[in-house]
Amino acid sequence: MKIIRSISLVILSAIILCPLGAVQAKTVVAIAHTHEESHPDHQGFLAFKEYVEKNAGDRYEVQIYANKTSGSNEEVIELIKSGTIQFMAISTANLEPHNKKYAVFSLPYLFSSEEIYEKFISDPAVIEELGEENDKDGFTPLAAFTAGTRSFYAKTPIKSVKDLEGKRFRIQSGKTNKDLMYYFGANDITISFGEVYKALKNNVVDGAENNELALVDQKHGEFCKYYTYDRHQMCPDMLVGSSLFLYSIPEEDFDTFKKAAIEAQKVEFGRWKKSIEDAKKKAKEMGVTFIDVDVHEFQEKVKPIYEDVLKNNPQIKSLYEKARAFDKKYAK
Ligand code: GCU
Repeated sequence: MKIIRSISLVILSAIILCPLGAVQAKTVVAIAHTHEESHPDHQGFLAFKEYVEKNAGDRYEVQIYANKTSGSNEEVIELIKSGTIQFMAISTANLEPHNKKYAVFSLPYLFSSEEIYEKFISDPAVIEELGEENDKDGFTPLAAFTAGTRSFYAKTPIKSVKDLEGKRFRIQSGKTNKDLMYYFGANDITISFGEVYKALKNNVVDGAENNELALVDQKHGEFCKYYTYDRHQMCPDMLVGSSLFLYSIPEEDFDTFKKAAIEAQKVEFGRWKKSIEDAKKKAKEMGVTFIDVDVHEFQEKVKPIYEDVLKNNPQIKSLYEKARAFDKKYAK
């Protein structure tokens, strides 16, 4: 509700006088995401805003609502579908319940390096394939932001895969993530991103899994003093637009938004490594210890998930094979 009211206020204030005296309103485009303003996704969206307003500023004004101000990811994706909000960044894990293709990124150890993963998610053919059912989905993927590599972190040290047993970890949405925890031998509980801090504080969970930024930006490092580099997953934050909105505007404007998304991605990628370095430094100051482990051991433990997921979710087969081929082609 808050967002609807503020959007209409902005629309009213965006009314401009045309030379002939006619009154023309700019379309206000709202972007929502759940991160802090220092996060690379937000920096990417600033570039998106700049590109749109530079190239179509007579017709569009872009407003960015950071830090969950317009709701949780689960709520905002519904607002995207209804056209109330026009763009958002959302993890592919949170899109799996809407379209099973996005589950491909929840598969563990899909890419052997972040460089290969970044190449893959920058390939227009990949974005197009993900968006093949965008009318039914209600959202259209335009680009992907990296979200680095996800690893476990907890209140007690995880030094080997055995240490996951019997512990309860917060996970993102999607059946594939649940299956993954099953193969790891861990207990899982799906919790919305914004609620994880509270869950850690109240001992609802013993730990979580994410990239290093969560320790600092989301303050999970206040409770979890051990971050273990098992590097099990790389799943991007998709920059999606409302299909209702994108198909209601002229094609050339749709094209402007597509180009803006590519600009946003470039900036986001460019900021990523430095923000991880900064986060690690701050996390250490918070008392977090970073643990290196035998990744191979973790990898072996979850191997059976591939057969299982591919059998139960044939929608991902083509993207899975594409990802494998990419990895083979670019792995050193
Ligand atoms: C990452 C990602 C978010 C996601 C979050 C989560 O931080 O960038 O988009 O919501 O993980 O674990 O929920």
